[in-house]
Amino acid sequence: MAQTAQLILDDKTFELPVIEGTEGEKAIDISKLRDQTGYVTLDIGYKNTGATKSAITFLDGEQGILKYRGYPIEQLAEKSSFIEVAYLLIYGELPTADQLKAFQYELSRHTLVHEDMKKFFDGFPSKSHPMGQLSSLVSALSAFYPESLKPSQTNEELNQSIIKMVAKMATVVSWIYKKSLGHPVIYPQNKYDYVTNFLNMTFGQRTEDVTIDPVVIDAMNKLLILHADHEQNCSASTVRIVGSSDSNIYASVSAGISALWGPLHGGANQAVIEMLEKIKEDGGDTDKWIAKAKDKNDPFRLMGFGHRVYKNFDPRAKIIKKACDDILEKLGINDEVLEIAKRLEEVALKDPYFVERKLYPNVDFYSGIIYRALGFPTDMFTVLFALGRLPGWIAQWKEMKENKEPIGRPRQIYVGATDKDYVDIANR
Ligand code: SDX
Repeated sequence: MAQTAQLILDDKTFELPVIEGTEGEKAIDISKLRDQTGYVTLDIGYKNTGATKSAITFLDGEQGILKYRGYPIEQLAEKSSFIEVAYLLIYGELPTADQLKAFQYELSRHTLVHEDMKKFFDGFPSKSHPMGQLSSLVSALSAFYPESLKPSQTNEELNQSIIKMVAKMATVVSWIYKKSLGHPVIYPQNKYDYVTNFLNMTFGQRTEDVTIDPVVIDAMNKLLILHADHEQNCSASTVRIVGSSDSNIYASVSAGISALWGPLHGGANQAVIEMLEKIKEDGGDTDKWIAKAKDKNDPFRLMGFGHRVYKNFDPRAKIIKKACDDILEKLGINDEVLEIAKRLEEVALKDPYFVERKLYPNVDFYSGIIYRALGFPTDMFTVLFALGRLPGWIAQWKEMKENKEPIGRPRQIYVGATDKDYVDIANR
């Protein structure tokens, strides 16, 4: 017999259905609560509220488990490639060799952006933040693909929009970087795979052929895989709710980029490096900064620490921390802030403030150290997070549309003024 939850309200007992997911998660289905009881629920920040049923990513915050379409992140980070993981997230299964080849070919045919896009690039002040540029440029792509604006696209039309979005993101990201240096942009080359192409457009030169270090290619694939999806996080939820109004893919992804920009979310990877640099300049006194993070009167937070879901460890942080030592050694880089980061982690994990609040390093704590070692400037870190998260956003957006979910529109409890009459300005 199906499990139910009993709710006793105003001397009446209501039975609410309980649903269980494939990994044993349970939820009370309140989709008919207001009709049955006249009540809504309140859960500011949605800390206890599921917004959807999804088959894309599973997280277990207590066990530190992260799986994409059932595959453990540890295996994908070790054995897969970013474009294979993108296929897995978007289409639901690991591709066969032929499917992967066809996907890569399709992407390679759409990596160019319309030459008129350069007018948008030229419009930005040279030091404007790359995330502000990225959200504007991605939204501007819709101007060149009016077919993507058509609500209720056919599956083929939808897939074409998806291919174009994935393909052009790497070009737009690399061109933002090149423009920040005042360098000429590098055009995509079909002989390269997706990640190598991105790195060549980013670090390549017009004047000579540049060979991208395989260590850098491998590290970039791993980082992009680790960022590819994370179920209903702030930016994925934003993409879903914007898409639920039948907004096109470019507008939906642009909204996700804006949500990711915040330092409490994807912007944390930039904030972590800025924090570590500040601690280094201040003499590297980690105890002083840990005390500041604990002080309620001090706005300072230990960036890269804490997570809404992970309450033991973020499996991605574990993988990235290990990769840090490996990559820096291979590249012959000794970065002092890595040692500061390790000391901060060591001190924090013994400190009751962090232990009681279950605050551990998250995906952003070590990732910036690798991005920096690969040659990226700090303000590009969150853009790289967006490049990695794109397949996840698209998978979430596609699933919401395929499941014909209704437009997202939460309720509220009104606590403002009641029954006021208008007063002429002369009498106020
Ligand atoms: C990402 O959701 C996702 O999946 C996101 C993400 C993804 O892949 O999409 O994993 C990516 O966004 C990772 C998180 C990156 N952000 C940061 O590193 C910023 C620093 N961390 C925090 O601001 C915070 O931990 C959050 C935003 C990540 C989580 O915030 P919550 O779940 O709302 O928790 P909270 O702010 O209510 O904190 C609970 C307590 C509070 O203390 P008390 O009021 O109980 O005394 O913990 C404290 C907080 O003050 N706290 C911290 C802290 N994080 C939480 N104290 C010091 N330093 C911190 N970093």
